[in-house]
Amino acid sequence: MTTSTSRPAGPLQGLARVPGDKSISHRALMLGALAVGETSIAGLLEGDDVMCTARALRALGAEIQRGDDGVWRVHGVGVGGLAEPAATLDMGNAGTGARLLMGIVASHPITCQFTGDASLCARPMGRVAEPLAAIGAQIVARDGMRLPLTVTGSDDPLPIVYRLPVPSAQVKSAVLFAGLNTPGATTVIEPEPTRDHTERLMRHFGATLDIGVEADGARRITLTGQPELAARHVTVPGDPSSAAFLMVAGLIAPGSSLTIEGVGVNPLRSGLLATLAEMGADIALSDEREEGGEPVADVHVNAGPLKGVDVPAARAPTMIDEYPVLAVAAAFAEGATVMHGLAELRVKESDRLATIVDGLEACGVAVEAADDSLTVTGSGGPVAGGGHVATRLDHRIAMAFLVLGLAARQPVTIDDATPIDTSFPGFAALLNRLGADIA
Ligand code: S3P
Repeated sequence: MTTSTSRPAGPLQGLARVPGDKSISHRALMLGALAVGETSIAGLLEGDDVMCTARALRALGAEIQRGDDGVWRVHGVGVGGLAEPAATLDMGNAGTGARLLMGIVASHPITCQFTGDASLCARPMGRVAEPLAAIGAQIVARDGMRLPLTVTGSDDPLPIVYRLPVPSAQVKSAVLFAGLNTPGATTVIEPEPTRDHTERLMRHFGATLDIGVEADGARRITLTGQPELAARHVTVPGDPSSAAFLMVAGLIAPGSSLTIEGVGVNPLRSGLLATLAEMGADIALSDEREEGGEPVADVHVNAGPLKGVDVPAARAPTMIDEYPVLAVAAAFAEGATVMHGLAELRVKESDRLATIVDGLEACGVAVEAADDSLTVTGSGGPVAGGGHVATRLDHRIAMAFLVLGLAARQPVTIDDATPIDTSFPGFAALLNRLGADIA
């Protein structure tokens, strides 16, 4: 554990880039490993989570290297070509890595053991085990279907039609990844649309996906199994979930003016932008463009007053990772911000509802949680700060509270900054270069 303290400092100013999108980085490595030929990936997130996925894919037979030019090259084995690994796959803190790889393994006739850190071993895997068992995989886990667990994939996988019981891009993607080596059509129906990076990237590598709408408005995604995936170049956009910390820091630290270049603005990820706009934030996008099949823009942020708003449940899937930092923005806003539909926050890297409440209370902020909602009553000015915040192996909690400390009256200390490397290596150095004081 390494503690870290952020102190109120001057305004944040200048130009920044954030590391590559974590969701897209995992998927690009996985599809590269299943394609034939050499895939190149520029802008890959070199965080711990993605490195766990790279190591696991190497253990399954793919060749993966980082070039001196910073571009990653993946020599894939073709759909269905993965080999049984000799050792347990340690997925660290990476929920996306673990769940999507379980999907891939489910339709390969191999046995893989998966483990992870204390946070990942506490997270529910039944949500992926259930559809993967329907496809024909055998999954053996300890009580409660948690890691460590073993997946034996099927040599005769069945195509399924699966309606998501929870809005989860990881579950959708696990089923679609299993569908790659399954003959026939695998269908996922999602009542609430979740991030569509898997669909976009699978098409980029040459898979056929039909995307339509059910009579009740749900999104229906059908993948034609056993495509020949061709190696491709992928450019990974800056992670909007990482840019979110800079955006909120720029809004709450008085006098700040920041530009964040090359941020992914996929509409299924941009709920925070909509929410901050409703709060009165001075945020603008420029140079909106498409890179590697994903919408990207530069984001300009100026500090200014914020007001409390109601955040509807329907928006939650498009900003599910942004609630810790939204709660921080809400603490500085005038009036109450009420966030609805947050049940999924209970099963993230920590129980984020509880961790946010404890952290805000430690910093003198009025906050209240119910089963699946959160109310933060802001002061309309600087919050007290001065708290010692428990981060519970949760990178986004760590970063959110360091951001809070930049504009609080008293410094904020987090008990452990090491989880930040899972998604945002260089976070403190980058903010300090812009004018922050994080030690
Ligand atoms: C992710 C999906 C989300 C998100 C996670 C990344 C993905 O999880 O919270 O950080 O890459 O598919 P759920 O699928 O559990 O909502």
